[in-house]
Amino acid sequence: MRIDIITVSPELLQSPFQHSMMKRAIDKELVQVHFHNLRDYGIGSYKKLDDMQFGGGAGMVLMIEPIDKCISKLQSERHYDAVIYMTPDAQTLNQSTANSLSLKENIIILTGHYKGVDQRVRDQFITHEISIGDYVLTGGELAAAILCDAVVRLIPGVLGDEQSALTDSFQDNLLSPPVYTRPANYEGMKVPDILLSGNFPKIEDWRSEQAFKRTEQIRPDLIKDE
Ligand code: 6GU
Repeated sequence: MRIDIITVSPELLQSPFQHSMMKRAIDKELVQVHFHNLRDYGIGSYKKLDDMQFGGGAGMVLMIEPIDKCISKLQSERHYDAVIYMTPDAQTLNQSTANSLSLKENIIILTGHYKGVDQRVRDQFITHEISIGDYVLTGGELAAAILCDAVVRLIPGVLGDEQSALTDSFQDNLLSPPVYTRPANYEGMKVPDILLSGNFPKIEDWRSEQAFKRTEQIRPDLIKDE
């Protein structure tokens, strides 16, 4: 998979790709990530990127021209399966979106700033709009890093233990059950006996039951429609 990220703050975004799972995925050449500084496509000698909104109101809006130049250049070089705009006024990211994006070959992620982008960018270039939750961040960069993490870890070969992405919270619309490790008894706080029993079918039943209970308690919305 190739990910092209268009941003006004490439520095803010780079660190998550230089560590841990995402670094491993890049080192193993399972994913390529390219950063594009929108400033390089700015207008005039000031490399202008934004302007006041028509109709008045606070906040600057990213102009269409620099974004058009950047996206069009990329699209002239290869086909993109998705052009994603990170913005709080969109559907929220979930595991099913991450799963489907992990199957794409080439994607562009545009991160917003200020008051957002000119609506014509969204109408003309964007195929998917994604928010990471119901709160407002200063820019879409951290949201883009979160999206990439959620997607890249699903690419086959990225996670060492192939099982582990399948048993994640949300993979089946349930939260994960509790997990324990040694010691079995820490200052009187004991691990549930069932987990020490060696009876694996029973352990699986217990885990499902716990996952369901936890979901009912904390995120009933996840099972409401089923
Ligand atoms: Cl994608 N961008 C911004 N600026 N704020 C957000 C967001 C995105 N998702 C939730 N809040």
